[in-house]
Amino acid sequence: MVFKLTSVVALVAALALTGNAQKQIQGISFANNKDAPNDSYNLPKNALAVAPISDLNSKAFACRTNGLNFPSIKSYSATGGEMFLVAWDMNSLNSTEGPKLNGPCNHWMASTAAGTDNLKWFRIGEFGYSADEGWCTDKIRREGQLVVSMPDDLLPGEYIFRTEVIDLTYAGKTNADDPTMGAQFYPNCLKYNYSGGKNPKEVTTGLVSFPGAYLATDQGLLLNLTADGKPPGGKYTVPGPALHNQTGP
Ligand SMILES: *[C@@H]1O[C@H](CO)[C@@H](O)[C@H](O)[C@H]1NC(C)=O
Ligand SMILES: *[C@@H]1O[C@H](CO)[C@@H](O)[C@H](O)[C@H]1NC(C)=O
Ligand SMILES: *[C@@H]1O[C@H](CO)[C@@H](O)[C@H](O)[C@H]1NC(C)=O
Ligand SMILES: *[C@@H]1O[C@H](CO)[C@@H](O)[C@H](O)[C@H]1NC(C)=O
Ligand SMILES: *[C@@H]1O[C@H](CO)[C@@H](O)[C@H](O)[C@H]1NC(C)=O
Repeated sequence: MVFKLTSVVALVAALALTGNAQKQIQGISFANNKDAPNDSYNLPKNALAVAPISDLNSKAFACRTNGLNFPSIKSYSATGGEMFLVAWDMNSLNSTEGPKLNGPCNHWMASTAAGTDNLKWFRIGEFGYSADEGWCTDKIRREGQLVVSMPDDLLPGEYIFRTEVIDLTYAGKTNADDPTMGAQFYPNCLKYNYSGGKNPKEVTTGLVSFPGAYLATDQGLLLNLTADGKPPGGKYTVPGPALHNQTGP
């Protein structure tokens, strides 16, 4: 696997604490610049204080913001087929305060070609659980970043990238059944221009809406972790539609 490090585009989300010591991922930015993670170009300022979402019908489900009226995009671009990094603030990752998150990650994209009112999202990457590496959240804590492969078959244009951490610590009951429970979603979004796809075509399969993409009863969202935070039976399937696969016809 070859990482084109000179063209890596990274997002940075810092972990921080709220009053009730719930650890949350905050902030997001392209981070191949020395100011990261303070540079949060693509999120409204108040988004940095927004807690995770458990209500699957929340209008803010897509990006933890009301609407997708991001500030103007900066001169960033992503090229089809490249690897890029989703990175978290290293210093705060090793903080001993706050509960430990346990769960998978999903990465999504949506074209804004038809506006942002009715975005159709497709899933471009995931990391669930493995016996060797643990949860996605364990990997983040160890390595501080995730490598994501940008699909190489998209039409050029503007997209919203959505990266999501799902904490399953309270997933033994649905949030609808018990408002103190439910899987907790930490999505963060940013907007960028995509170009350079090798076999560009419109995405027509695996498209979902937020809210709507997840059901409270999805197998990967309704489960009791073991006492040490593992999935029952050591096996876990990340929720969501089939991954967008760039090797198709
Ligand atoms: C981010 O901002 C904080 C507070 O202003 C500052 O202490 C820190 O050095 C900044 N980090 C970077 C990487 O610029
Ligand atoms: C993104 O693409 C749009 C449409 O081609 C263009 O108007 C805009 O300048 C581009 N923005 C950046 C930051 O490259
Ligand atoms: C957290 O601390 C451990 C042990 O000191 C270290 O191995 C690891 O690299 C650190 N993780 C990050 C993301 O800095
Ligand atoms: C999780 O455990 C609680 C308490 O034992 C139980 O009420 C609940 O039904 C369990 N949830 C699942 C998905 O098995
Ligand atoms: C496409 O799917 C196949 C079979 O699931 C998988 O082996 C391959 O890695 C996928 N390709 C990409 C680029 O995701």
